[in-house]
Amino acid sequence: MEIGVIGTGYVGLIQSVGLAELGHNVVGIEIDKEKIKNLNKGEATIYEDKLEELLKKNIGKNLIFSSDYKKLNNCGIIFICVGTPQSKEGKADLSYIFSAAKSIRNNLDENYKIVFIKSTVPVGTNRKVKDILRRKNIDVVSNPEFLREGNALFDFFNPDRIVLGFESEDKKTAKEKMLELYKNFDNKEIPFITTNWETAEIIKYTNNGFLATKISFINEIGNLCKKFGVDVYKVAEGIGSDKRIDKSFLNAGLGFGGSCFPKDVNALISIGKEVGEKPNLLEEVVKLNDRQPLKMLDLLRKKVPELKNKKIAVLGLAFKPETDDVRESRAIRLIEKLKDESAMIYASDPKAINSMKRMIPEGEKLTYLEDAQKAIDKSEIVLIVTEWPQFADLDYKDKLVMDGRNVIPKEKRKNLNYEGLCC
Ligand code: UDX
Repeated sequence: MEIGVIGTGYVGLIQSVGLAELGHNVVGIEIDKEKIKNLNKGEATIYEDKLEELLKKNIGKNLIFSSDYKKLNNCGIIFICVGTPQSKEGKADLSYIFSAAKSIRNNLDENYKIVFIKSTVPVGTNRKVKDILRRKNIDVVSNPEFLREGNALFDFFNPDRIVLGFESEDKKTAKEKMLELYKNFDNKEIPFITTNWETAEIIKYTNNGFLATKISFINEIGNLCKKFGVDVYKVAEGIGSDKRIDKSFLNAGLGFGGSCFPKDVNALISIGKEVGEKPNLLEEVVKLNDRQPLKMLDLLRKKVPELKNKKIAVLGLAFKPETDDVRESRAIRLIEKLKDESAMIYASDPKAINSMKRMIPEGEKLTYLEDAQKAIDKSEIVLIVTEWPQFADLDYKDKLVMDGRNVIPKEKRKNLNYEGLCC
């Protein structure tokens, strides 16, 4: 099939490369000319496992990138995958979505098309896009994504379900098109959940809202367990065996970051307040999450009251392992707090140093080191902030180790000056 994908970020690039790998002819639309140049040379602009390999395999054959919307004219299906960043008031900024819709209206011919909105958008956005398009022969369908960074291509090829929200339940053409799109999947039984626009929009926010709530819940229990001297990871194993709970997303620690959970939970709170609701539970989820990095520093100050000029290694800058993305990473808050206290910081991460440098440049008291062992050797205190597996194998010598992600195996801890955030 001929498919257009608007946006080449963490969702759009996966969508373009994944669909090309499935054998479709894909045009990826991007406004950043530098990005287009790199992508058409087969250079991935983000780090994801196997992404560059598949990009190189398909680019120039059934995959191209361009800034010209007119190239979408022979695409019967178009995915909008542009960002919906959080505004200052905590709402979703929809300017990129509406700009994409206007570009479609102004550049595309009169042939029938389906526009799938993959971006995470507040209730009512699909309806607004349909109004902007002003085209009877364009169906707009809500098709939220559930890709996890670091596992994005796996999640693309192995979706738990496909959610489709239609203007009205009789718009079955789009469902047939989606079935055709995904027919190449090994004969997996992928449930298609079909509903209306608003319900599909809320499903996405609720999905992330629930996962974020689950994390803050286990962090609350982790903070209690810390006081009782109980291992919250054993508690998580105990409750995770209950099929109704499941063991996933019960890793207590520094809490959630990333471009989605913080933004989506705040957007849910914001749209709730707009309609006169007070989402108290979700507000507490955010507050508890914001406190976790401060809890680590409180624990540290109990052992080292004065951090000024102390040499501190920060291991892990990405918001989670297997990505170079530092958006809303817990390391940002910790580095800023340590800088306020004039500590001497040595920061390291296997993939995310360049991303973090763009956010917090190196300075007199902040040095980035590719080699995590060197960061440890130069420091008196080590904060483990992201659970990169290789951090478990480093030599922590006689340093004070504050473990925010339960990285150091139990048998190794007894020989260390070790303190776990939740264990
Ligand atoms: C999330 C959702 O999982 C995905 O479905 C959605 O499409 C986008 O948002 P992502 O943000 O990429 O994906 O990462 P995820 O693996 O969900 O982790 C999010 C954050 O929660 C990370 O900072 C991670 O460290 C943290 N986390 C996750 C925990 O603190 N504990 C856990 O048990 C799991």
